[in-house]
Amino acid sequence: MTTELSPIDRAKRAAARRAAEFIEDGMRVGLGTGSTAAFMVARLGERVRETGLRVTAVPTSNRTAAMAKEEGIRVVTLEEAGWLDLTIDGADEFDPDFALIKGGGGAHLQEKIVATASDRMIVIADAAKGVAQLGAFPLPVEVIRFGWQATQRLLAELLEGQDVLGREITLRGGDKPFVTDEGNFILDLHLKRIGNPGTLALALNQVPGVVENGLFMDICDVVVVGHGDGRIEIRDRNSGRVITEPADAATGDNAFSGLKG
Ligand code: A5P
Repeated sequence: MTTELSPIDRAKRAAARRAAEFIEDGMRVGLGTGSTAAFMVARLGERVRETGLRVTAVPTSNRTAAMAKEEGIRVVTLEEAGWLDLTIDGADEFDPDFALIKGGGGAHLQEKIVATASDRMIVIADAAKGVAQLGAFPLPVEVIRFGWQATQRLLAELLEGQDVLGREITLRGGDKPFVTDEGNFILDLHLKRIGNPGTLALALNQVPGVVENGLFMDICDVVVVGHGDGRIEIRDRNSGRVITEPADAATGDNAFSGLKG
């Protein structure tokens, strides 16, 4: 089955399956959203069914919740879980400082809440998501529907003073706007290059009508990078270590104990 996947999907799958091995018995785990996260949820489901692994999972979207339940994973709300040991999620871009752009799938609001309510966040991504500087991927900003055009105008004014290369803003979905799980719209900011993501992330959330932006600063602890040939790199922000593993490690039971804590 793996051989039928594209190289990108093989890379996503390898990263996702490797990261799923970080989940230990009894953990409370945040489950991300997107195609990479779906591979991780599938692997976690296998582990639950095959080994009796006990986990309590908090999904970051309705679609991940549906998939997790189908996989036989115990799903609760964040309120019920209280706090999480670990969240594993995909990303649209990650940079050398472990800053992320997320929200390509429109779920970054719940993803950010869940990730920041976790002791650790592990990002899973194919190698192409790694960038020297964020911004080629349009930055999603979730906004309240009421007065969204005024919010867009305020965002445009804000961008005039920001260190970015592009300033176009589009409503996701256009004439048929995309609506998030929380009932909001998404404005995509086509910035091309973000010079100072930390400053921008703070400024965006000051605009009335903005619920949350897709910049994840100082949230991600580990990036598990997958390659098309199945190789894995595990980059740990706290220790600065990078571990590379051969293709078959992605489906193995090898613990990642050296980077924990
Ligand atoms: C969902 O809103 C996003 O944050 C995803 O995590 C991100 O878009 C990565 O998606 P893929 O794994 O499908 O590339």
